[in-house]
Parts: sequence; structure tokens; C-alpha cells
Amino acid sequence: MNKPCLKTSLAALGFMILLGAAPAHAAIDWAKVPGKDVAMFYPGQSPWEWVLTPSDHEGAAKFRAGKDCFQCHNGDEKTMGDILVSGKRNGAAVPGKPGSIVAQVKFAHDAQNLYVRLVFAEGRQPDAGMDKAYATKVTMMLDDGSVPEATRAGCWGMCHDDNTMMPAANGADRTMYLPRTHAHLTAHGGGDELKPADDLAKLKAGGYWLEYWQARLNAGKPAVAVNGEIFAKREETHPTAVSAQASYAGGKWTVTFTRKLDAGAGFKAIVPGKTYTIGFAIHSGHTAKRFHYVSFERTLVLDSGNADFVAAKE
Ligand code: HEC
Repeated sequence: MNKPCLKTSLAALGFMILLGAAPAHAAIDWAKVPGKDVAMFYPGQSPWEWVLTPSDHEGAAKFRAGKDCFQCHNGDEKTMGDILVSGKRNGAAVPGKPGSIVAQVKFAHDAQNLYVRLVFAEGRQPDAGMDKAYATKVTMMLDDGSVPEATRAGCWGMCHDDNTMMPAANGADRTMYLPRTHAHLTAHGGGDELKPADDLAKLKAGGYWLEYWQARLNAGKPAVAVNGEIFAKREETHPTAVSAQASYAGGKWTVTFTRKLDAGAGFKAIVPGKTYTIGFAIHSGHTAKRFHYVSFERTLVLDSGNADFVAAKE
């Protein structure tokens, strides 16, 4: 009676051995990890300068007075995305593009690594043809509380009116950057003039930079993981301390990031007792640069504490 059972488990075992270099995250039993939905919406052209300007943004005065984006907009993402993708506000319409994507997000860690898993359906996406190599890119931004703009506004701390393809870019190619790295901040961004090198070095030493992880995806192909930082500009960094696994089935992506808690210089140390700010973005339909979906800011802690996500030790 036991035989078929034994056979099945032996087959399963054989299959696992065949897979050989089983990724470390195979140890996480994701079914047991509680998840939360994170809505990402199409933001149009609504940069840092726009959200801070009362004549543009209804929430500007209260944001300046101390209320964070997610505190006001939790639950608004679908409506906002629908408005912005339709071109009614802040940029041109993108015909046929869904206004938002909801991902179920889970975190876990063990003695070595932090693991993040996102499950989401992109819906029917028009092909923008901007990124020919990858259909989809999933990005997580991470800070350890050293970047006040990120603590308050997540990814909006690095998004500016004069970034590539934004209203004040005037054709320039300018990546995302953090405001305090620039010498002059105007209602249209910081331009290209940076603070003196000494000031930049001090900011950097104080942890005023953001880390990001990205999984570049095509269905049926292994995910390509990259990491990078945002400071005076956004740049990919090497070596890559992040790995990503992805699978696509039934219209849904399952994407898992793995990164050592202590990945050394150039990476934020991930330790218990600290509150991290995270933000998510998805580039869908072969898009690049600003044509992504973005989440509002969320918080993360290890083990226990008051945060949107508590990564429990497995
Ligand atoms: C005090 C509450 C409040 C805060 C804080 C706030 N907003 Fe808003 N925001 C609003 C209101 C009100 C609107 C007008 C549309 C609406 O009613 O949802 C709006 C509109 C927007 C829109 C345009 C889309 C639309 O639906 O009209 C964007 C984009 C936006 N906010 C982003 C942000 C970001 C990013 C932050 C943080 C930097 C932020 N908001 C902080 C209240 C707020």
C-alpha cells in the first residue's frame, strides 16, 4: 500500500537532486509566510517637485507638514493609476495599458540571507518596444532610514522633473538622483550641478544613498539579477550580491530575490532592530525609464517590530 507513495517521493527526491544546485531559498516554505498586497500604479509625470508644489498637488501642504504619501494614499492606487494612465493628469495617455498592478509580497530571512518574494499578474500589456531585451523588470528599492526623502516618500525621493523623459528634461538623459546631492534645487529639479566633493563624501558616509535590486525577466528564461545605487545618479554596481529566481505560469509571475544580510561595502547592512524603507516598481510590456508602475513607501523589519513587513526567521 505504501509503494506508490514511496515511489512518488523517490521520484520527487530524484527530481530535486536533478535540479542540483538548488537555490538557497528552496528552504523557505512560502506557503507558511504571511503576505501582503502592494499596489503599484502608473505615475505619469508626477515627480518630487510636483508633489511638493501646492498649486499642483492637493496633498503638498500636508506632505510638507509631515504626512507621508502612503498615509494619505493607501487604497487610492488603482484610481490614481487609472486617472494617470488615461492622460487626464500629468502626462500623455498610454492606450490599452492597465493603470495598476497588485503584487502579493512576502519577506523571510535565515542566518545568512534576506528573501523577498513577489507574485503578480501584469494583465494585458501593450508592447512599448523600449526595452527590447526584457519584457518585464521588477525592482525593489531599499534604505536603512538614512535617506529622509525615502522614509517619507519611498521612490519619490529620487524621481525628478528633469529626469530622462520628464517634463523639464529638455531632451537630456539624466538618471534618478537624491535631492541633497545637488547644488541647486528648483521647482524643476536639480539639473547637473552637484554639491562640492567634500559635501558629497559626507553625505555618502552618512548613508545618504539608496540601494536597488532588479530582476530582468522573459517568460521561460532564467531571471537576470542586477543591483545598484542611487546617489548623485543611479548606477548599476558590481559585484552583484543579489540573485533572482522567477517563474511564469497562468499569467502570473513569481519572483524571488535573495541577498546576504551582510553583503559588505556598497550594500546596506540588514540587521534586526532597524527599520528599512522599501519601495517596488515594475516595468511591464518592454518599457524602460519612467514608464513603470510604482508603489508608495513601505517599512520592513527583521524578526519583530512595528512595520508593514516583518521578515521572520526561518
Ligand atoms: C494630505 C494627504 C496627501 C499626502 C500626504 C499626499 N497626497 Fe497625493 N494627493 C492627495 C489628494 C487629495 C490628491 C487629489 C486626488 C485625490 O483626491 O486622490 C492627490 C493626488 C496625487 C496624485 C495625482 C493622481 C490623482 O489621483 O489625482 C499623485 C501622483 C500623488 N498625489 C502622489 C503623492 C505622493 C508621491 C505623495 C508623497 C510624496 C503624496 N501624494 C502625498 C493627497 C495627499
